[in-house]
Formats: sequence, C-alpha cells, structure tokens
Amino acid sequence: MQMMKDRMEGVPACTFPVVEAPYPVISNDWVNGEYKLLVVEAEAAGLAARAGQFFHLACPPEGENDNFLRRPMSIHRIDRERGQLHFLYKVQGNGTRALATLQPGDTLDALGPVGQGFSLPAATQHVLMVGRGVGLATLAPLAQMAIAQGAKVTAVLSARSQALVMGRQVLEEAGASVHVVTDDNSDSDVVSLEGFIRRLHAASPVDFMATCGSNRLLMLLQKLSEEFGAAGQVALEQRMGCALGMCIACVRAFRKEPGAEALTYRRVCWEGPVFDMRETVAW
Ligand SMILES: Cc1cc2nc3c(=O)[nH]c(=O)nc-3n(C[C@H](O)[C@H](O)[C@H](O)COP(=O)(O)OP(=O)(O)OC[C@H]3O[C@@H](n4cnc5c(N)ncnc54)[C@H](O)[C@@H]3O)c2cc1C
Ligand code: FES
Repeated sequence: MQMMKDRMEGVPACTFPVVEAPYPVISNDWVNGEYKLLVVEAEAAGLAARAGQFFHLACPPEGENDNFLRRPMSIHRIDRERGQLHFLYKVQGNGTRALATLQPGDTLDALGPVGQGFSLPAATQHVLMVGRGVGLATLAPLAQMAIAQGAKVTAVLSARSQALVMGRQVLEEAGASVHVVTDDNSDSDVVSLEGFIRRLHAASPVDFMATCGSNRLLMLLQKLSEEFGAAGQVALEQRMGCALGMCIACVRAFRKEPGAEALTYRRVCWEGPVFDMRETVAW
C-alpha cells in the first residue's frame, strides 16, 4: 500500500466541484430489451458536467438488497437548455435493476460530476469515435463537444444486433456522421472495422480517436492512432467504491508515459475515467 501511495504522489488534485444532490426524475423508459434512459432535472452544479465525466448514483434499496454502494454512470447527454441530464444504462444486476424502478416524480440521489473527462486538442479537425454497447452512452457528449469546437465527427456504433443500436439520434442531432456495424450483419469484427477506418482516414484524415466499452476496439484504435499519428483517449469502466479517490478500489496499471514499458498506478475514478490511449494497458 505504501508503494502504491508513493507512486501516486503528484497526481492531480480535484479541479471540479463534486456535489451530492437530489435530482428529480422526469422519465425512466426502456429504449430496448436491455437498456433504459433515465432523464433527471439538474441544477447548475450537475449541468456543469463535461463529456466523459460520470455521476455516482445511489440505487434505491430493494427487498433484501440495501444497495449500499453507489453505481458509476456516465452522462449520456447534457441538455443545458432544458436543464436535464440523461443516463443510458444497461439493466443487469441489483443496482441497475433498482434504478429501473425509479418513476417520474421520484428523486435520484447523485454524486457528481466526477472524474476527468475528454480533452480535445484545439486544432482537432476530425474525431473518430468507436463505441460498443453501453460504451456509446459515454461517447455521445464528446460529439457535442467536438462539434462545438469546430471539428467533424464520425461515430461508429457497434452492437450485437440492430435492435441494440443506441444513441444514433443523439449523435445525429449533435451533427455527427453515424456508421452502424452489428454482429448480425458480420461487419462489427476487427478486420472489417479496420478496413472501414482506413478508408475513412484516406478520404478525410482522422486526428483524434476515442473509444469506450471494448478491449478489442481499444487495441485496434491504439494501433491505428499510432500509425496515423492521431491523438486518442479511452473512457474506462472499473468497479468502484467511493468514486472520490479515497478507497483505492479502482486502481489500474498504466504506462508511465505513452508507449513506455514502465508502469504506474492510477485511480480510474479520479485521474480518469478518460485516459490517453497510448498510456492505457489493454486487458
Ligand atoms: C465511469 C463509469 C461509467 C459507466 N457508465 C455506464 C453507463 O453509462 N451505462 C451503463 O449501463 N453502465 C455504465 N457503467 C457500468 C455500471 O456502473 C455497471 O453496469 C453497474 O455498476 C452495474 O451495477 P449492478 O448492480 O446492476 O450490477 P452488479 O450486480 O454489480 O454487476 C452486474 C455486472 O456488471 C458488471 N459491473 C459491475 N460494476 C461495474 C463497473 N463499475 N464497471 C463495469 N462493469 C461493472 C459486473 O462485473 C457484472 O458482470 C459505468 C462504469 C463506470 C466505472
Ligand atoms: S473508487 Fe474509491 S478511489 Fe476510485
């Protein structure tokens, strides 16, 4: 533990306000057989969230499960005009099943916004984002941010089937070009995706890549970003306890600097969840 503490000396302190607040639930509807979209009303502190940050959500107690630990959830959409935050989540275990019971008029206890989000170099021209499954929830606000910065965005949405493709509307409304690949259609494998990305880059050079939710996509983008000389970031998911940088439950090994063999340790909740792709060790 001392060794880990020594290695983490000098990591950035909190540069964002983290607030625990009650968020009134506006809606919580199924978008397909596995995912729900939770929309809550938010005050200024919540709406100050940036692309790639997340909230730590208290899930209501259910039967014998008190759901003591909060569950980390990315912000899928920050709608500052309407004063709303959207969370797109997969209903899978006790916590998310309890979240799925929230009704309009209920209150969601949320802690956030937490973590370091995406940062785009100012001169970025063409952002490629590739997300699989719920990884798309995390990438959507990056499209809003990149387009506001004047960049063009191509989003590749990968899913098991067309019925599980999500986030298309949000991305298209933000102004992204959307390309859908599915396992059903046999075009979501790494070889097909690599071919698509190479053709895209030849037609309109990509200078920033982002991904979330899949190790094989991360490895593909790590390879291509190096070859193309493009910058890249990845949003990681890791089991969390406090999400406040204190419990060390979410520590992972990273390269000390891009491409280096030497490793260091970082907290996904605090130094991340968004990291430089070249420093991230694939799993
Ligand atoms: C920064 C961050 C952002 C996330 N954003 C989203 C999001 O936008 N939408 C979404 O659906 N999910 C997201 N997740 C994953 C989400 O937190 C987990 O799915 C959730 O905690 C599962 O809770 P549960 O009680 O339903 O499931 P559990 O019963 O705890 O576990 C069910 C399954 O989910 C896996 N799981 C549990 N916790 C995590 C976790 N922290 N990360 C990855 N897998 C986990 C378990 O290994 C198990 O396979 C995010 C995770 C992190 C760390
Ligand atoms: S979850 Fe506690 S330090 Fe990251």
